[in-house]
Amino acid sequence: MHHLIIAGSGTMGASMAQIFASFDYKVTLYDIKAEALEAARERIAKNVAILTESGEFDAARGQRTLSNIDYTTDNNCFKSCDAVIENIVENLEIKRRFYAEISQLTPDDTVIASNTSGLSINAMAEAVRLPERFIGMHWFNPPHLILLVEIIRGDHTSDKTAQAIYDLCLAIGKKPVMVNKDVLGFAANRLQVALFREALALVDQGVVSPEGIDDVMKYGLGFRYACVGPMEIADLGGLDVWNHVSSYVAPDLCAENVMPASITERVERGELGVKTGRGFYDYSAGQGEELIKERDRKMIAIFNALYREE
Ligand SMILES: NC(=O)c1ccc[n+]([C@@H]2O[C@H](COP(=O)([O-])OP(=O)(O)OC[C@H]3O[C@@H](n4cnc5c(N)ncnc54)[C@H](O)[C@@H]3O)[C@@H](O)[C@H]2O)c1
Repeated sequence: MHHLIIAGSGTMGASMAQIFASFDYKVTLYDIKAEALEAARERIAKNVAILTESGEFDAARGQRTLSNIDYTTDNNCFKSCDAVIENIVENLEIKRRFYAEISQLTPDDTVIASNTSGLSINAMAEAVRLPERFIGMHWFNPPHLILLVEIIRGDHTSDKTAQAIYDLCLAIGKKPVMVNKDVLGFAANRLQVALFREALALVDQGVVSPEGIDDVMKYGLGFRYACVGPMEIADLGGLDVWNHVSSYVAPDLCAENVMPASITERVERGELGVKTGRGFYDYSAGQGEELIKERDRKMIAIFNALYREE
C-alpha cells in the first residue's frame, strides 16, 4: 500500500493523516467541509513543528510529513487509491451513504476500513460494493500515543483484506489485535463499559467515592494493566485462586442492562464533564485543562518508559 485516503479530517482523521504521512505514505485527507480541512492542515503543521523542535523528527522528516499530505473536498480522489480509512461522524446512516457513494468510485481492489467506535461492521458492509474488502480498524485517542488498533472482521471480510490492514498497522509501529467477530463495542469498549458499569454501581451504593474509583485504577489496576493483561495476571496469581475468588464475587457484580440515574441525570442536567465544566468532578475554574495536561504528561512518560525505541 502506498496511497491512502483518510476520509473525515476531525480529531481522529487529521491525526491519522499525520502519522501515515510521517511514515512516508502518500495521504489524501478528504472532508466534505473545506473549513475542517483547513483546521486539520493548521493542526498538523503545528504538531509537526512541535515534533521537529523537540528533536522527535529531524527537519527532513518534518518536511516530508507535510508534503506527503494533500487536502481535498473532491470525491474524484477515490478513483485512485490503495486504501480508504473512514473517520467521519459516528452515525450509521451517514456512514452507509458515504460507503455506497465511494465504493462505486474506488478501484475494485481498494481496501476500505472504518474507524467506527463500535457500530456494526456488517451493517456498514451492506452499503459497500465488494464487501470482502471492507473491515473495521478501530484506533484510540490520542492516536499518536496509543499503540492499540483493533481490527474487526465482518462476515464478508476476506483474509487478504484482514492481512493488508494488519500489515499496515505493523508498518507504522502500531499493535494490531484481531477481533474475529463483529460484536458491538468490539473488545476494548466492551471491557471498558463492563468496568464503567461496575464503577457506577459501587459509587451509587456508597461503597467507594468517584475519587476512590479513580485511585483504585490509577495506582493499582491500571498501573498493572500497562505491563500485564488480565489473562497474564490470572496466570501469575494462579488460576485456582482466580477461579475461587471469581466464583463468589461474580454473582454479586452489577448485571443491570440500563445506565443508572447517576449518569443519565447528569447528562440531562448538561453535566457532561470537562467540556461543560462539571461531570463527576467540578471543572468550573479551569481544572479540565490541568487534567488534560497532566494526563498527556503521564501518558508520554509511560509511553517513553515502555515503548520508546532508542
Ligand atoms: N474521538 C475519539 O476519541 C475517537 C476514538 C476512536 C474512534 N473514533 C471514531 O472516529 C470517527 C471520527 O471521530 P472524530 O472524533 O474524529 O470526529 P470529528 O467530529 O472530530 O470529525 C468528523 C469529520 O468528518 C467530517 N464528515 C462528516 N460527514 C462526512 C462525509 N459524509 N464525508 C466526509 N467527511 C465527513 C466532518 O466534517 C468532520 O470534519 C467516528 O466514527 C468516531 O466514533 C473517535
